[in-house]
Amino acid sequence: MSYNLLKGKKGLIFGALNEDSIAWKVAERAVEEGAEIVLTNTPVSIRMGTINQLAEACGAIVVPADATSVPDLENLIEKTMEHFGGKFDFILHSIGMSPNVRKGRTYDDLDYDFLTKTLDISAISFHKVIQVARKKDALNDWASIVALSYIAAQRTLYGYNDMADAKALLESIARSFGYIYGREKFVRINTVSQSPTPTTAGKGVLGMGDLMDYADRNSPLGNATADDCAGYVLTLFSDLTRKVTMQNLFHDGGFSSMGMSRRAMTLYEKGLEVEYQDISKR
Ligand SMILES: NC(=O)c1ccc[n+]([C@@H]2O[C@H](COP(=O)([O-])OP(=O)(O)OC[C@H]3O[C@@H](n4cnc5c(N)ncnc54)[C@H](O)[C@@H]3O)[C@@H](O)[C@H]2O)c1
Repeated sequence: MSYNLLKGKKGLIFGALNEDSIAWKVAERAVEEGAEIVLTNTPVSIRMGTINQLAEACGAIVVPADATSVPDLENLIEKTMEHFGGKFDFILHSIGMSPNVRKGRTYDDLDYDFLTKTLDISAISFHKVIQVARKKDALNDWASIVALSYIAAQRTLYGYNDMADAKALLESIARSFGYIYGREKFVRINTVSQSPTPTTAGKGVLGMGDLMDYADRNSPLGNATADDCAGYVLTLFSDLTRKVTMQNLFHDGGFSSMGMSRRAMTLYEKGLEVEYQDISKR
């Protein structure tokens, strides 16, 4: 169902790899809500993934860019402005990758070159995107910038590794740049802290199946899906949230406020787990 929330708006979306990607769902929903979009990803992800199919379905162009490369970002922002014929209204940063996680290096045995890459790809790229957009005066007043985060920025979750540090930095960049861009151009900058989600990046996290089950049991509304996330992100791109900025917004079915739910407790009760079908007993 469309509400025309983004009618007349134009935006740039990073991070759609395949149809599981959160960015993919945001792109589809943004277009449904009336937006025009430009899509971007790294050349290798464009080759290995299916972003071109998404572009075709959305009537979008795809501009390759490595989000850690300032020259790539300059080219991307220029091409995006050329395509739109001027400034635009929203940016989604949906990018994450840790070579330490990929190579199985644990947090007490990090490879520091890998750590530098984790931070550059997953957090500093957010600063680079915003800095380049601002220097090129690419965004309309009251534009909205959103990046995706995870609760490991605040709480320790086994296996999330150096991505936790990257997410803490990402959320801090939203606050620091949110002040500067807000006071100058009313541009708002927020992070959305999403439930564990079975995407390519998500599946790379150690013990992802158990983590998803644990989060789901401890979330009164259940885990938020990628589709749910897209809906929430659209509200942040819309004019309905013009005074929301510099926030980390939890989109996690209530997980971040829970300690222990009855549904999770059943796992530790004697005997076999009782599945509570009744939603009021989650
Ligand atoms: N999946 C989850 O459980 C979960 C939960 C909370 C937050 N997030 C965050 O959501 C965001 C999107 O991830 P996803 O789960 O949709 O997985 P995904 O694997 O579909 O997306 C990750 C994207 O990052 C892109 N990327 C990697 N390096 C890049 C670079 N140098 N330049 C540009 N793009 C690059 C990849 O090509 C890919 O499209 C990430 O920030 C992730 O940390 C995911």
